Amino acid sequence: MGILDRHKVLEKNATLLLVCSLGVVTIGGIVEIAPLFYLENTIEDVEGVRPYSPLELTGREIYIREGCYVCHSQMIRPMRDEVERYGHYSLAAESMYDHPFQWGSKRTGPDLARVGGRYSDEWHVDHLVNPEAVVPESVMPKYSFLLNKEIEPTYITDLMSTHRMVGVPYSDEMIESAEADFLVQVDPMGDTAGLVERYPGAQVRNFDGQPQLTEMDALIAYLQMLGTLVDFSTFTPDASR
Ligand code: HEC
Repeated sequence: MGILDRHKVLEKNATLLLVCSLGVVTIGGIVEIAPLFYLENTIEDVEGVRPYSPLELTGREIYIREGCYVCHSQMIRPMRDEVERYGHYSLAAESMYDHPFQWGSKRTGPDLARVGGRYSDEWHVDHLVNPEAVVPESVMPKYSFLLNKEIEPTYITDLMSTHRMVGVPYSDEMIESAEADFLVQVDPMGDTAGLVERYPGAQVRNFDGQPQLTEMDALIAYLQMLGTLVDFSTFTPDASR
């Protein structure tokens, strides 16, 4: 019996075909999935990626609360049109401290994974207050109320402890200094050495231009750090993994 004739037996017997297909899929599945259980970590370490500063983390909470993810993704796919428009494709490590991740599934507006530094703080304030004033054809809602919502670091210790529970490596020191770090990030005159040591690259300034600390400050602090942690002029993917 030739190999084709033997295969004919399989093709003519539906039950046998089903059982054998199942066997093949099971072997394939095990080969693909089993190694993942023996890996320490499936995300390659990337220099520069760090947990969010207390103020950035608060801005991220506001981003989630306001449903920005409904219209904006934070994941640049490794395809030419995306990379040319948004910059280097997103790395897994860049969202390793995101709980929940903000990859999104719909782009009514542009991807925001690398929006940090693309616009000035004033641009963000004007745009969030009234998007149409900046981009006439915009369908983005207005978020001007964020300018009036003053914030205090009341819950920041709890928030960071919760993130630590799900795996973000906030140290005891980071959690102890959370309230001070939260406040000092909008105070260029303050003692920011500790903040910048704990969160390298943290940007310190009055983000919304008002004397009071508001949700607008926190949200813009978050937007301005997005995609800025990894230096892509020196980054080379680790081919050994
Ligand atoms: C209903 C959909 C929608 C929602 C919700 C929304 N946006 Fe937008 N966003 C857009 C659209 C459309 C644009 C493109 C036009 C423009 O710039 O206004 C945009 C543009 C932007 C830009 C400029 C991006 C770039 O690269 O030019 C930023 C930043 C931004 N949005 C932030 C936010 C934030 C922060 C929130 C939540 C507080 C939010 N958006 C909520 C639709 C939305």
